Amino acid sequence: MKVKNICCIGAGFVGGPTMAVIAEKCPDIKITLVDKNKDKIKLWNDNDYKKIPVNEPGLISILKKVRNKNLFFSEDIDSAIVESQIIFLAVNTPTKHEGEGAGFAADLKFIDACTKNIAKVATNEKIIVEKSTLPVRTAERIKEIINNNNKHGVKFEVISNPEFLAEGTAIKDLYKSDRVLIGGDQTPSGKRAVTELVNIYKRWIPLKKILKVNVWSAELSKLASNAFLAQPISSINSLSSLSKVTDADIDEIAKAVGMDKRIGKHFLKVSPGFGGSCFQKDILNLVYLLRFYGLNEEANYWYGVIRINDNQRKRVSSIINQYFTDKKINKKVGLLGWSFKKNTNDTRESSSIYVAYNLLNQGFEVLIYDPLVDSKKIIEDLKEHNTNKNLFDSEGFLKSVHVMNTIDSITKSTKVLAIMTEWDEFKNIQKLSEEIKIFDFRNILEKSKTIFSF
Ligand code: NAD
Ligand code: UGA
Repeated sequence: MKVKNICCIGAGFVGGPTMAVIAEKCPDIKITLVDKNKDKIKLWNDNDYKKIPVNEPGLISILKKVRNKNLFFSEDIDSAIVESQIIFLAVNTPTKHEGEGAGFAADLKFIDACTKNIAKVATNEKIIVEKSTLPVRTAERIKEIINNNNKHGVKFEVISNPEFLAEGTAIKDLYKSDRVLIGGDQTPSGKRAVTELVNIYKRWIPLKKILKVNVWSAELSKLASNAFLAQPISSINSLSSLSKVTDADIDEIAKAVGMDKRIGKHFLKVSPGFGGSCFQKDILNLVYLLRFYGLNEEANYWYGVIRINDNQRKRVSSIINQYFTDKKINKKVGLLGWSFKKNTNDTRESSSIYVAYNLLNQGFEVLIYDPLVDSKKIIEDLKEHNTNKNLFDSEGFLKSVHVMNTIDSITKSTKVLAIMTEWDEFKNIQKLSEEIKIFDFRNILEKSKTIFSF
């Protein structure tokens, strides 16, 4: 089969950058990114590149080369399905809020809806690629949905090709992936489908980095990878209190521990807790799967990584609260950074949301600044968090939230700031007057310039 058309359902943080890179590397293939969110598609097509919905260093320059040449953003999902030989599923798979597995299992309703639609619309052979992060054995579920809805008796192959990019470095990660994982059925047609995808990636990824595995290994490797990445962050965060009370230095500990090659220096940076759309939801999903198979001790072990993360967020909130209580000063604090890490506009599961919410709950007035996240999004995040937690009866608490456009406008109202995200521009605030008191929850400033660092 000569692949001429590919489509990707889900034009978000994964679908956007991934398809942009494939389009750049495969100029002979037409790629169509579709999404049910029409406003998002409009923004991807906007003449003003600053409006594209995903901030990733390097993405705009790729889009300038490929958009409307061989990469198209479209609202017409059905036509894209019909004309494509390979269909990537890159829709979101958040933690379930209700029903069986609520609070742990991945919500597969978007995957199910896409699959059903593909089965109904497709008129010829398709390869469906799981790009979203999914629980192990989802390919089985996809095949079942297809069998129940296969209107035109079409032949489908389902393969798993999980994505390992990190936000803020997505383009770099996609150009030089540590590995590309492709899992397929061990049947002749399954193997052929895997080869089609290998033929795409091998245009820029060396063959030795393309790992062909069985479909279940590919699905489970993705959850395992995120769990293994999040675990050292919880490990170092779990020692940050002990380090503080014993006058040890947590950055020195991270350095000393990380110099052991068997452990490694990455993912040992202390923080107000890991955020992002994936670590928490994927570990919760792993916990759910372990419990499903009756492996309760193992489930508790991995749940510990989440509990330490929750604890770190609570600890950060109470450090701020304690300061104001001790000093008997007006509870008004500036939070610097809303995104879950620097160089991304993504705020999902950011520790800033949790900490702001805890502080509001303790009677604080909170002033917030982020270089990329606007007021609308910040208020939306707090409202959504409130709906999930249901602590506040009304939206009255939002009166105590002020989103500011600069750090200067915050320091006119309060002299106490807390660094929540490690944006580079926050490194300059140590030049602010001595009057300004800074909690540095990312350990990015000189310690002597702060009232708290881990
Ligand atoms: P996202 O929310 O940014 O994008 C998902 C998109 O899918 C949304 O725009 C949504 O409108 C669209 N969508 C949902 N249902 C649809 C439907 N039925 N038809 C058409 N469009 C639909 O999510 P994301 O961050 O890109 O993550 C996507 C998947 O990739 C998740 O499973 C995630 O765990 C995984 N992942 C994410 C990252 C990351 O860094 N964000 C990295 C690796 C893997
Ligand atoms: C993470 C993984 O790194 C990707 O490989 C994976 O593909 C992705 O999840 C996913 O499945 O979505 P991402 O969430 O984008 O990527 O960002 P990370 O750089 O991993 O950071 C996650 C959180 O951990 C951030 O809040 C960050 O500040 C925090 N972190 C990271 C620390 O607190 N300390 C560290 O040393 C590293």
